[in-house]
Amino acid sequence: MCGIIGYIGEKKASPILINGLLCLEYRGYDSAGIATLEKDGITVKKDKGRVKNLYNLEGIDSLEGTVGIAHTRWATHGKPSMENAHPHLDNSSTFAVVHNGIIENYSELRDFLTEKGYHFLSQTDTEVIPNLIHYYFSQDSKKDDDQLLRAVKSTCDDLKGSYAIEVISPLFPDRIIVVRKDSPLVIGTCKKENHIASDIPAVLAFTKNFYLLNDQEYAVVYKNRIRFFDASLVEHTKAINNIEWDAAAAEKDGFEDYMLKEIYEQPNAIRETIGSRFRLGEKCSFDDINLTKEYLSSLDKIYFVACGTAMHAGLIAKNVVEKLCRIPCEVEVASEFRYRDPIIDEKTLCIFISQSGETADTIAALKLAKQKGCKTLTITNVIGSSITREADYTIYTHAGPEIAVASTKAYTSQIVLLIILAMHFAEILNSYPEEKIEKLKADILDIPSKIETILDNVDEIKAFAKKVYTQKDMFFLGRGMDYAVSMEGSLKLKEISYIHSEAYAAGELKHGPIALIENGVTVIGVITDPKLVEKSISNMQEIITRGAYTLVVTNQVLPNVHFNSVINIPETDPLLSSLLSIVPLQCLSYYISKNKGLDVDKPRNLAKSVTVE
Ligand code: G6P
Repeated sequence: MCGIIGYIGEKKASPILINGLLCLEYRGYDSAGIATLEKDGITVKKDKGRVKNLYNLEGIDSLEGTVGIAHTRWATHGKPSMENAHPHLDNSSTFAVVHNGIIENYSELRDFLTEKGYHFLSQTDTEVIPNLIHYYFSQDSKKDDDQLLRAVKSTCDDLKGSYAIEVISPLFPDRIIVVRKDSPLVIGTCKKENHIASDIPAVLAFTKNFYLLNDQEYAVVYKNRIRFFDASLVEHTKAINNIEWDAAAAEKDGFEDYMLKEIYEQPNAIRETIGSRFRLGEKCSFDDINLTKEYLSSLDKIYFVACGTAMHAGLIAKNVVEKLCRIPCEVEVASEFRYRDPIIDEKTLCIFISQSGETADTIAALKLAKQKGCKTLTITNVIGSSITREADYTIYTHAGPEIAVASTKAYTSQIVLLIILAMHFAEILNSYPEEKIEKLKADILDIPSKIETILDNVDEIKAFAKKVYTQKDMFFLGRGMDYAVSMEGSLKLKEISYIHSEAYAAGELKHGPIALIENGVTVIGVITDPKLVEKSISNMQEIITRGAYTLVVTNQVLPNVHFNSVINIPETDPLLSSLLSIVPLQCLSYYISKNKGLDVDKPRNLAKSVTVE
C-alpha cells in the first residue's frame, strides 16, 4: 500500500520524482525516498516521515541524474525508519529497487540469500528483491542487453505475493525495468521522456497517454521508447490508452483540502456517471454488459461485495435492487466473504464495488466467486485497474480522480450507477412499473442540483461541528436506507476526526445502546423515509429525554420536537434520498476534523488504496 514513481528523460529527475510522490501520499506516508543514477553510480536519499521531508535531506539539490525511481511507504514489514524506507539496494549497490505490495515468502528467500552470503540492512520484505536480482544477474553467463531483464524475471518467478517493482542500475543507465502483479502500475509516455507511477493522476500533468501494465507483464522503459514482454519474456506491442481526465481535476483547485473539493465535485461527478446511461423516455443502456432476461430470471441471489465506503454503497444497492427487481440481495465485506465459503453458484450474480479497483480483499473475493461459477460484475472508478482485468463485466463510475483518503464523490457516484443498474435490470425483467421507473429517472436527473443546494447552505453544519468537535463519542441513528447512510456518516467521522462513533438501526436503540445515552452525548438522526418518520421521531424523543445533544438531517416535516439542530435537505424519491442525506454528514465530519486541526486528507494509519490483506 505504497506509491511508486519513476522518471527517465532529459530533465533532472529528483524534483519530478518528489512532486510525483506528493500526489501519491494518499497511498502511504510514513517514509519516502528516491534513487537516481548519478555519474558515480546510484545515489539514494530517503528518510522516515512525509515526502516533503525529502526536500531537507542533505545533497538532494545536487542530484543531477535524469533517471530515477521513488517511493512513499505505508509500513507493513518493519517500522517506519530510514533503513526500512525505499529504495533498497543490493549488497554491491548495483541495483536499486522500489516495491509496492507484499512478498509473502520473503523470509524463505532471505534464508536462501543469507546462505549465499548476502546480508540485510532492513526488516523489509522488499530487500530480498535487489539481492535476488544481483544473484541471478551474476549467475547469467550471457552478457547481452537483456541480462538485467532476465535477472528481474528470474527474481519475480521466485516471489509469492503482490508487487509493482521498478529497477535501475548504473550497468544499464538508459533504462528502468518495471513489472507488476496484483499491485497497480502505469506508464505515462511523452516526447523524449517516460513517467512511471502507481496511478494516473500522479503523472497527468505531463501526459494523457498511458500504458496500463497487465499482471506479470514487464516493460523496459527508455527515454524515447518502451519494450513490453509477457511473463515468459516474449516481446509484444501494446496499445496506448488516452485518459481524458483533466490534470487540474487532480489538484486542489483553490479548496483547502482534497476532501472538501471532492465533496463539492459530487454534483458533476454524478452528472458524469449518469452520462448517457439513460434519457427520459428511453430505456437504460448498458452496452458494456450483456445480461439477458433469461439469465436475470434464473438468479436466486445478487451479492454485493466490497470494503469500507464501497460496502456502504452496496447496502443502498441491496434496498434498491430488491425493491425494483424482487431479487434477494446480500451485502458482505470482502474480507469476510472470501474466507466464509459463501453459498454461491451460477445462479448468483456477484457485484464487486471498489473505487480504486485495487483493494486486495475485493479482488480475492471476486476470484473466489468466479471459481464458484458466478458471473462477476465490477463497479470501479479507475480505468484499467486490477479488478477490471478479473471481472466478467466492468462498469465505470466517472467521478474523476479521488485523492482524499476518506471517500465522498466515489460513494455517491457508486450509488447512482447502482441505481441505474437496478433500473436496467427492472426494465429487462419487467419487474417494476414503467411509469415509476420514468419518474425515478427524472428524480435522478435532479439530484446534482439538489446537492448543490445543500452545499450552498452549510452554515448550520459548520456551527454544529464547532459545538461538538471536542466530544469523545457520537451516535448515528436511522431506519432502512437512513440506517445505511448513518453507517457511512459514522465511518466518515471516525476516519477523519478520530472520534469514536457508532451507527445503530434506530429500532435497536432500546436493546442496548440507549444505556450509553447521558447528558450531552451527541446523537445524529437521519430521517428521510416518510413511512418511518413517526417511528424514528419516537426513538429520537427517547434519547432527548435522556439528555442527548441532537442533530437531525431530514427532508420531512417533523412534529414539534426540540432538536438542537435540524438540517433540511430537498425532497426526493425515498430510493434516492441517501444521495442527499449523506452530504451534510460528509461536511460535518470535515468541519469537525478541521476544528480539531487534523490532516483531513491523510488521516493517521489509513491509506486510500488497501492493496494488502
Ligand atoms: C480504504 C479507504 C476507504 C475505501 C476502502 C475501499 O479503507 O480508506 O475510503 O472505502 O478502502 O476502497 P475501494 O478502493 O475498494 O473502494
